[in-house]
Amino acid sequence: MNYDYKALSEKYGTPLYMYNFDYISNRYTTLKEAFSGKKSLINYAVKANSNLSVISHLANMGAGADCVSIGEVRRAIDAGVAPYRIIFSGVGKRDDEIKEALEKDILLLNLESEAEMKRVEMVATALGKKARISIRVNPNIDPQTHPYISTGLHENKFGVEIDMAKRMYIYAKKSEFLDPVGIHFHIGSQLTKLSPIREACDIVSDLVRSLKAIKIDIKFFDVGGGIGVVYDDEVTITAEEYTQAIFQSTKGLDLTLLCEPGRYMVANAGAFFTKVLYEKINGSKRFVIVDGAMNDLIRPSLYDAYHKIEALGIDGDTSKADVVGPVCESGDFFGKNVDLPPLAHNDLLVIHSAGAYGFTMASNYNTRAKPAEVALEEGKDRLIRRRESYEDQVRLELEYLK
Ligand code: LLP
Repeated sequence: MNYDYKALSEKYGTPLYMYNFDYISNRYTTLKEAFSGKKSLINYAVKANSNLSVISHLANMGAGADCVSIGEVRRAIDAGVAPYRIIFSGVGKRDDEIKEALEKDILLLNLESEAEMKRVEMVATALGKKARISIRVNPNIDPQTHPYISTGLHENKFGVEIDMAKRMYIYAKKSEFLDPVGIHFHIGSQLTKLSPIREACDIVSDLVRSLKAIKIDIKFFDVGGGIGVVYDDEVTITAEEYTQAIFQSTKGLDLTLLCEPGRYMVANAGAFFTKVLYEKINGSKRFVIVDGAMNDLIRPSLYDAYHKIEALGIDGDTSKADVVGPVCESGDFFGKNVDLPPLAHNDLLVIHSAGAYGFTMASNYNTRAKPAEVALEEGKDRLIRRRESYEDQVRLELEYLK
């Protein structure tokens, strides 16, 4: 389906996020089909893109949700995800979050420490409700990705070691208010190699076998998220390879397989549109200054992440330029040494692969309003979040102004 991005950018203004919902459907179906023949649940990692319409689109296809705050749990429920398809992960859940999750009767609370397990037990006891839990195992595997998004090494703050996990399962099994039915791991994000996933699956499957041997019956095997996507020219894991590795590791075990893809579902469904304000040359350095900035899409600044930048419908001899925003930071850039044709005021740039960890990591730095978000589906466009106004931003402060 072809869309007139230039016209859409005029219609909704820039900076602007656009997401292709047909692409998201396609990704969901591809992954779900790769699990066919097995009991499975795809828990979309809401943190990647938590727009209610995005979650709702996936929920309508049958997806569950992986949430890391009670806010995300509420979003998932508001968007139509059934509570029995929601899991709640994260290293630091507050009592009120645990309580609400238990009251909402979500599928699983993923525990990341012994201390947290004791807290969940306390809250569950007070509610008189048995908590279905899963324990996040840290398999100590190098996922071979960016250190900021690596999570499966002991030096990372996530999960517990195998021995600790065992002790926790034994404790939970005896508790009147804990029901240890799941096991979880997540070794990192943007994984482009299968071997670390396979290794982690093997380690955790062995743990499941030893737990089953002592009558701790794990029913949900959650492999986390992390499937890498193509930003540039990466060769990444296919859905088929991914599920085959999981099937092999878990062979002979009666389990429901869970996974928590975020980026895989939405990264390449989305693009960020920004207009050229000015060009300038400092010495020999060419800068293209645009109306979007690091507050809208922080991945290049924060992780030095690559996003392909395209000047839409503009030809001409290219030269290298840094694409920068108006924010008062030298780190405010979308790309460095990008080959771009000569550009004029109002020319449109597309920053590709911006559907995941784009809008969700946006901020109001420099009192910049967050961009609008638009869905494209079956040839039609619709607004799914209006552009923020100045009034939206000061609303929570104005009443305290002396
Ligand atoms: N499950 C857990 C427990 C996670 O921590 C994450 C991501 C996911 C699932 C989803 O991972 P995905 O399938 O999207 O790779 N802001 C960073 C990414 C941080 C990922 C954090 N955890 C970025 O922009 O690259």
